[in-house]
Amino acid sequence: MPIIAPSFLASDFLHLAGQCELINNSVAEWVHLDVMDGRFVPNISFGVPVIKPVCKATPGKYHDVHLMIEEPEKYVEDFKSAGANSITVHYEACRHLHRNIEQIKKLGIHAGVALNPHTPVELLQDVLPYLDLVLVMSVNPGFGGQQFIEHSIEKIKRLRRMIDEKAYTALIEVDGGITLDNAAAVVNAGADVLVAGSSIFGADDIVATIGQFKAV
Ligand code: DX5
Ligand code: ZN
Repeated sequence: MPIIAPSFLASDFLHLAGQCELINNSVAEWVHLDVMDGRFVPNISFGVPVIKPVCKATPGKYHDVHLMIEEPEKYVEDFKSAGANSITVHYEACRHLHRNIEQIKKLGIHAGVALNPHTPVELLQDVLPYLDLVLVMSVNPGFGGQQFIEHSIEKIKRLRRMIDEKAYTALIEVDGGITLDNAAAVVNAGADVLVAGSSIFGADDIVATIGQFKAV
């Protein structure tokens, strides 16, 4: 069964406490927190002042911070202090990716690398042994509510093979356009973690919908 990571980008910011309570009452193991800087992606979301209270209000959950920002090395310590259990940086934003991964791991938390739709999974070959997770973006990052890019299925399968062949431990997380209609195909291709924003927080019954994702 996949790990479910509701993305708070699609949550109701006026009622964050209530949204956290719903997640606490659900079978979602992770909370996905999207940080956007208006430079790496053409949108600005939220940062430490939002992430810190959300982490505090969801104490039993694993806090998965997805940094869609330039120069992530300047901020990883702040996000760790805010409650991150994992920090994921973008391959396309890191000139010294290996150093960035080491920096995150030295903080005692998990390190992930995210790939834009145009970035081949094969480019991760030399850092894969150091990674705790790979985030395959199945939309172009920056916005919730976009349509799943079908080619991502093929990418997930290739990454699954790369990980299994060498018995690496990195989890495969897939983010963008995940719905109850395509979740099973994503899991069958090899995903371990499903991120879902609008299809969870936009649902009439958030807790029940998370249960349905878990059972795909
Ligand atoms: C997009 C973000 C996603 C976003 C997914 O750049 O990384 O985490 O919240 O939203 P949905 O599930 O609505 O595509
Ligand atoms: Zn994300």
